[in-house]
Amino acid sequence: KQISIIGVPMDLGQNRRGVDMGPSAIRYAGVVERLEALGYDVTDEGDIIIPKDLTTDKEMTHLRNLEEVIGASTNLGNKVHDVMENGKFPLVLGGDHSIAIGTLSGLADRYQNLGVIWYDAHADLNTADTSPSGNIHGMPLAVSIGLGHEKLVNIRDFAPKIKPENVVIIGARSVDPGERELIKEKGIKVFTMHEIDKLGMTTVMELTMNYFKERRVDGVHLSLDLDGIDPLYTPGVGTPVPGGINYRESHLAMEMLYSSNMITSAEFVEVNPILDEKNKTADVAVALMGSLFGEKLL
Ligand code: ARG
Ligand code: MN
Ligand code: MN
Ligand code: MN
Repeated sequence: KQISIIGVPMDLGQNRRGVDMGPSAIRYAGVVERLEALGYDVTDEGDIIIPKDLTTDKEMTHLRNLEEVIGASTNLGNKVHDVMENGKFPLVLGGDHSIAIGTLSGLADRYQNLGVIWYDAHADLNTADTSPSGNIHGMPLAVSIGLGHEKLVNIRDFAPKIKPENVVIIGARSVDPGERELIKEKGIKVFTMHEIDKLGMTTVMELTMNYFKERRVDGVHLSLDLDGIDPLYTPGVGTPVPGGINYRESHLAMEMLYSSNMITSAEFVEVNPILDEKNKTADVAVALMGSLFGEKLL
């Protein structure tokens, strides 16, 4: 089995610098060696070009760095598309979560009924109208179901990329009022921290996998925001929220996904080495990738 690693040094989807160094931090934490040790053929495809300081065609919008995010998303979408065309598993390293717009735009030409796991403290379902911050990293899920600024929604010239009923959000504990409305209106499946505490991670993952089976998805993308995990374990993120998924639950979730054989692509986002403690967050990201790709103790 072949894995292609794609770095996305993007920090323009939010206002704290440093998350553009996430891909370097994850490489330094040994991602290639870790996956090679499991017997995979791993290719590091290097980093996507992020256009900077685009001055042309700046429109009046409160979406921060809109043109740059559009450019980067398009470049990433094309790359993800090419990697899949070569029969390899795309493993995307962020970068802030706005990059999911690009990843999903590439996956969507191949998967017509893609399932998406959004492992995150947040729902990332804001639009320009509901966003409290103007930060595009709070919008990628809305954009991918076809809601938001039309230039974002139509990246790579088609929309929508995914169906709202194929999305499962896991770990939510900070949801804005507009996002709550959208979750109800679109019937998006959410396992908040409340459900994780009440049911346990085993049941949450079983329900998630059954949900995808019932929906007859043709692939499942894991979009894992490191802020889904409790900041005790992953302090190097821009928007930490206490009371998150713990280290052991996260490994269990990844191990169950491996055993399910359902995951067809993945991205690990929001690793910010400037805010981190001795690369702890990148280390956790790589450890979770180990479990996702089949690492076992015995
Ligand atoms: N809901 C907030 C916003 O829209 C925070 C989003 C955080 N998103 C993330 N990918 N970390 O600004
Ligand atoms: Mn094609
Ligand atoms: Mn988040
Ligand atoms: Mn996120």
